[in-house]
Amino acid sequence: MKDQAHELKLKMFKPASTVCVYAVVSGKGGVGKSNITLNLGVALNQAGKRVLLIDGDLGMANLDILAGVMSRHTLLDYFETQKSIEDILVEYKPGLEILPGGSGFMSLGDNREDELQDFVSRLIGTGRYDYVFIDAGAGIDAKLLSFVSVANEVLLVTVPEPTAMVDAYSLIKILSIYEIKPRIQLIVNQVSSRREAQETYEHLNKVIGTFLNIQMELLGYVVSDPKVKAAVHRQTPFSLVHPNAPASRNIREISERLSSGAVTANFGTLSEVMHRFVRIFGS
Ligand SMILES: Nc1ncnc2c1ncn2[C@@H]1O[C@H](COP(=O)(O)OP(=O)(O)OP(=O)(O)O)[C@@H](O)[C@H]1O
Ligand SMILES: [Mg+2]
Repeated sequence: MKDQAHELKLKMFKPASTVCVYAVVSGKGGVGKSNITLNLGVALNQAGKRVLLIDGDLGMANLDILAGVMSRHTLLDYFETQKSIEDILVEYKPGLEILPGGSGFMSLGDNREDELQDFVSRLIGTGRYDYVFIDAGAGIDAKLLSFVSVANEVLLVTVPEPTAMVDAYSLIKILSIYEIKPRIQLIVNQVSSRREAQETYEHLNKVIGTFLNIQMELLGYVVSDPKVKAAVHRQTPFSLVHPNAPASRNIREISERLSSGAVTANFGTLSEVMHRFVRIFGS
């Protein structure tokens, strides 16, 4: 019996040969990154994938609050008080872990992005996960660029409003200047219909194709759904508490698309990008 349990544990932690790392970004804040990250994590986990959600919105983090989990330590503690990774990781469900970012008047401090990048890439490199999502928070700064650098893919979230789309464009422009990622996957959140998502995608894709020569794919969309706000208040992912709500169905569609077109991590390229990052910021 003991041997069986041991074997099961070993199987659970068998290193993944590939890992898909998504940096979830937006430009403008409040467009739904954290809710999408959490619910996509839940959906992929329900499909049998091992998932890590990293709350990269350091100091303003809320993935743990949205999930309703208690985190004793945060990513910031790792840097400030030498806590171990295992001290910080929260197991939300078997195979779904959250790395809380910390809230309050805390920040990582200047010029420590390379340490953060090193930490995240080592965690990803453990092979414990099939998917890693880094909720990068809003705004464009060195921390965001370091998260994008360690990711294989950029998952851009926008809402179909001109302000959000202009900020999304500005973010993509920065990525193109630093040549960080050639490809973007888009989720249009809070749409009224599939058609509105498609139109938003076509508009943004045309502009970035013309001016920045960057490719963007429409990964999916999530409709505006009152169940999302209701679930936020209950501190439970909407796809768990309202599995048949339209927004939950949209999340499942995205999850299925992701798992069918899994992207293979290329650690050779990763280290190239990391060197480029160090050059850009001169650290
Ligand atoms: N599909 C949706 N339908 C209805 N409301 C939504 C939807 N998505 C998000 N919201 C609302 O928008 C709010 C903000 O969402 P969320 O916290 O996920 O955004 P964010 O991009 O992570 O914000 P920040 O940039 O501040 O981290 C939610 O609390 C919810 O009320
Ligand atoms: Mg957020």
